[in-house]
Amino acid sequence: MNILVINGPNLNLLGTREPEIYGHETLDEIMSWLAEQPAAQGHSLNYFQSNHEGAIIDRIHQALDQADGILINPGAYTHYSYAIRDALAGVGLPAVEVHLSAIDQREPFRRTSVIKDVCISQMAGKGKESYRQGLDYLLCRIC
Ligand code: DQA
Repeated sequence: MNILVINGPNLNLLGTREPEIYGHETLDEIMSWLAEQPAAQGHSLNYFQSNHEGAIIDRIHQALDQADGILINPGAYTHYSYAIRDALAGVGLPAVEVHLSAIDQREPFRRTSVIKDVCISQMAGKGKESYRQGLDYLLCRIC
């Protein structure tokens, strides 16, 4: 299976960004760790990070021809981007939403995800394990 892993705004700052919330590992370190198990099982992961909503939407559209599923941490777009929601619904690929932090236990504005309904699952609050569990769930559903 080909899985597209999308990371949204400010996730490129992982490692130095609010480490008390997001940990000390960089995005590259987390993505390398994430790839180990699926690579051994013959799956391929493609990574995309952007701080721009339109770029994320364009990449979701491209995935239609290239990917079997999407793992997405939309960052703050989670809470208000109807455009990313529509892109995911529009391509119709199975998608899982992931978050490092427990968005339902943080500031009120983070408790809403406008993405959740168009995803087959949401994993949050487990640090990088959220990505692992989200990916396992996605592969389980599409394999
Ligand atoms: C996040 C949670 C979002 O609220 C925040 O804006 C992020 C990271 C997470 O992974 O916990 O950028 O998606």
